[in-house]
Amino acid sequence: MNQKTFKAMVVTEKENNQFVREIQDRNIDDLPQGDVLVKVKYSSLNYKDVLSAIGNRGVTKKYPHTPGIDAAGIVAESQSKDFKAGDEVIVTSYDLGMNTSGGFGQYIRVPSQWVVKMPEHLSPRESMIFGTAGFTAALSVYRLVDYGITPNMGRILVSGATGGVGSIAVSILTKAGYEVVAVNGIVDEKDFLLEIGAKEVISIEEATDSGGKPLLKELWAGGIDTIGGEILATMIKSIQSDGGVTCCGNVGSHDLPLNVYPFILRGVTLMGIDSQKCPMPMRLKVWNKIANDWKLERLELLTTEVSLDGLNERIDLILQRKHKGRTIVRLPE
Ligand SMILES: NC(=O)c1ccc[n+]([C@@H]2O[C@H](COP(=O)([O-])OP(=O)(O)OC[C@H]3O[C@@H](n4cnc5c(N)ncnc54)[C@H](OP(=O)(O)O)[C@@H]3O)[C@@H](O)[C@H]2O)c1
Repeated sequence: MNQKTFKAMVVTEKENNQFVREIQDRNIDDLPQGDVLVKVKYSSLNYKDVLSAIGNRGVTKKYPHTPGIDAAGIVAESQSKDFKAGDEVIVTSYDLGMNTSGGFGQYIRVPSQWVVKMPEHLSPRESMIFGTAGFTAALSVYRLVDYGITPNMGRILVSGATGGVGSIAVSILTKAGYEVVAVNGIVDEKDFLLEIGAKEVISIEEATDSGGKPLLKELWAGGIDTIGGEILATMIKSIQSDGGVTCCGNVGSHDLPLNVYPFILRGVTLMGIDSQKCPMPMRLKVWNKIANDWKLERLELLTTEVSLDGLNERIDLILQRKHKGRTIVRLPE
């Protein structure tokens, strides 16, 4: 390959624990070891990328670093028998963008075990509108469906519904025939949530019970939580008998102030979601659902597209809790 350098966002640690984000030229030779080199066409912005971009050592230990836990593009070079130059691929999860240079750069080099062939009926751009957030939403819905929760059993509550995981969960559940109640964030996004399919929108306050009762009125057949803490506890206490809740995030809290009664008196099941270590066979099944049964007709409603230069502003919006839906990043040609 003739190209030697590429454009990337680089987060650098300065004095006094300050982190700055700049677009720089980097050398392809400096990318980590791996048998597949991918020219990235699109990436996307996730909560974890924001943590990496502000110097959170729980996500990224060493700086300078290029974040971006998602990438979709074209194989530029491959030493793997499973991929050849020109293949369209998706890379998400594992260590991409955490301590491995990520999708906020024009090139990534990764082990072939991390690479997924682009499913038919899905473009690189569409795959990044989903990205890790959308994959996690789809995995959460998959688990609820697989557990046996059907649309006729009742309504599904989705918390963090204005966010990446939440907004795609609302959209997929609606497409799959479920009636969804969405928890709004601090900015009033009721119209947006109704537009993407929610039947009803409630506030964070309505979704949070701080009264300490062991059980609450049975309101939901199932729930998808991205927040943790009291919202998740309230959701679990409000699930009807034999319902289930998925839990994937901790934007509100990593605590779970709960008792055992929802589990032993109502048979409620709590399902943990870890997209990062999701085994490849399940990963392929979920991407296939995304590309077919759960392909969203109105993806643009959820999407803001930016270039590398526009990314800083979108990171700040998440930090200020003013971001909604999904931000995708178009890398230079
Ligand atoms: N387990 C996994 O595999 C996996 C995969 C992907 C993501 N996640 C996790 O899922 C969570 C959501 O990710 P995301 O990409 O959807 O993030 P996001 O786009 O930033 O959305 C976060 C949502 O949470 C709401 N929120 C933020 N802080 C809150 C608080 N203190 N109390 C109540 N609501 C709050 C936001 O609403 P407002 O800011 O408008 O109030 C927004 O709706 C994160 O914790 C992320 O790490 C986990």
